[in-house]
Amino acid sequence: MAFDGSSIIVVAIFGFFLVNLTSSLVLAKGPCQFPAIFNFGDSNSDTGGLSAAFGQAPPPNGMSYFGHPAGRYCDGRLVIDFLAESLGLPYLSAFLDSLGTNFTHGANFATAGSTIRPQNTTLHQSGFSPISLNVQFYEFHDFHVRSQIVRKRGGVYETILPKEEDFSSALYTFDIGQNDLTSGYFLSMSVDEVKAYVPDVLNQFRTIIKASPVGCLPYVMERIPVLPGQIDRYGCASPFNEVAQFFNHGLKKTVQQLRKDLPHAAITYVDVYS
Ligand SMILES: *[C@@H]1O[C@H](CO)[C@@H](O)[C@H](O)[C@H]1NC(C)=O
Ligand SMILES: *[C@@H]1O[C@H](CO)[C@@H](O)[C@H](O)[C@H]1NC(C)=O
Repeated sequence: MAFDGSSIIVVAIFGFFLVNLTSSLVLAKGPCQFPAIFNFGDSNSDTGGLSAAFGQAPPPNGMSYFGHPAGRYCDGRLVIDFLAESLGLPYLSAFLDSLGTNFTHGANFATAGSTIRPQNTTLHQSGFSPISLNVQFYEFHDFHVRSQIVRKRGGVYETILPKEEDFSSALYTFDIGQNDLTSGYFLSMSVDEVKAYVPDVLNQFRTIIKASPVGCLPYVMERIPVLPGQIDRYGCASPFNEVAQFFNHGLKKTVQQLRKDLPHAAITYVDVYS
């Protein structure tokens, strides 16, 4: 398994995650010197993947911090950007971006709209990215192998590709899962129907996944009607958030199983549901 012996940050959903996130960042600053970050996920951590393949995320994305569209579906920086900064590493280049990329300190395989399970619809039909988590793994695998072949050519390649030994001591981060829940709602499935396939989502990958509160995503609130009584005191749709919590509960168990599967990997579970 590619990630055995590595450090992995898992983020999930419940009470005081930001506190957890902060403490894991502080810990990482001390003894851990990560030479690289490899990230997998969706729009929460896409630094240019979907933009490279399907057109640049338009303004106001990117405007407030970068001053121009910067491949992020956000006008500022993403958590993955702050994570890189806190480890003293540059922002991650998107694997799919062919312009100006530098992968010395890692690569980002996330694309906006990605799911864990491959969808049976096109991006045009449903808005979900064809670069599901399994595809991101294919890309990572190819990147790992080919970066070393290309690096041997020397010259500039040595300055833009990671060293072989950096793969095993890198930090692997995952932020994906919320779109697996919303894809069912968009097919008019009920909350119970979506809940019923959650174990399959977790099973299929049994890997480190983090989801954020789907019921607070503006695109869900806008497209799926919710009764006024189902809006919680934060203005979020509570039935969807219940499923998100159910997902995270399963994720927590999946992470426990993964610790057994990958005894040499340090797996950190970070809860961002709030
Ligand atoms: C796509 O279709 C296959 C075959 O019917 C099915 O097994 C799979 O669960 C479907 N995927 C999703 C995300 O619904
Ligand atoms: C890529 O980034 C590394 C580390 O930041 C730097 O040393 C190297 O010069 C960069 N390569 C190019 C071609 O900019």
